[in-house]
Amino acid sequence: MNKKYILFLIIILAFLTVNSYLFFTAPEPLREMTNEERYTFSVYDGFKIVAGLNDEYRSIYTKNIVGEGKKNGLKFDEHWEDNQIEAGPLPALFLRSTSALLEKSPVPLSLYLGSDFPISKSNLLTGIQAEKFKEIKEDLQPRFFVDKETDRYIGMFPDFASAKACVNCHNDHDNSPKKNWKLNDVMGSTTWAFPRDSLTTDELIKWIDVYIQSANQTYTSYLDKTKTFKSSDLITIGIKWPREGAFLPTVNSFSDSVLNHASIDLIKSFIDEKD
Ligand code: HEC
Repeated sequence: MNKKYILFLIIILAFLTVNSYLFFTAPEPLREMTNEERYTFSVYDGFKIVAGLNDEYRSIYTKNIVGEGKKNGLKFDEHWEDNQIEAGPLPALFLRSTSALLEKSPVPLSLYLGSDFPISKSNLLTGIQAEKFKEIKEDLQPRFFVDKETDRYIGMFPDFASAKACVNCHNDHDNSPKKNWKLNDVMGSTTWAFPRDSLTTDELIKWIDVYIQSANQTYTSYLDKTKTFKSSDLITIGIKWPREGAFLPTVNSFSDSVLNHASIDLIKSFIDEKD
């Protein structure tokens, strides 16, 4: 484990400990908690943590890799995994690959990206998720509920057009049913699902660990793919980022940068909640 990762876990744990103290125990007289009480968190708190992390990966990948990369000659494609295509994954496919790796892990946590105006029909939100998405678009707040059809606890988070690259690519795409997306629109939602209503601290750490490993493995597959490009000498993997030219950061530089942002945002949200 690298240092940034350990720091991120410490911040998360401090955040959860103080939060759970305020929410669950503050109104009652102080008493000794049993281990089970101490280590149990709501599944919805877990969703908020991994959703924050996923947003950070998604926005840094979109802005600093795809957005800047396109200006400097890097290519991104829907069919990036095909042998003859020399390109990296689009942001939605970065998420899909991360979610496929999550599915393969022993943690029964799933992640799905959907929309009411999807480029790919398989991403159309249906049933209760379509209903909840209408509410999300009105107040821009996440929704937490139980999906009785699948018997899963669900956390749905708005997916904002956080970078110009999101808007431009969707508006220009032939299969896009909507061509007037604007910056900061809610373009869809990331949906998390889990079969139980609560988790232990150990499980939550496992979630974070499995999520980070899945996202990092997706990024590593992209780096590995660039090594097979005939024009591979054009992309240098190291400490530099695409804003400086045809460069890609190593998986450690990339995930360090994400975790730095995630830790700072978590501290900020923590301070805001307590104000
Ligand atoms: C370079 C092009 C490109 C960029 C940049 C891009 N997308 Fe997409 N996006 C796509 C394509 C293509 C799909 C469909 C992929 C698939 O087959 O699932 C997609 C899928 C999605 C979906 C699932 C619904 C759908 O349209 O199929 C959402 C939501 C979404 N993108 C939001 C975003 C957001 C938010 C950003 C910026 C953070 C972004 N996209 C950046 C091309 C792009």
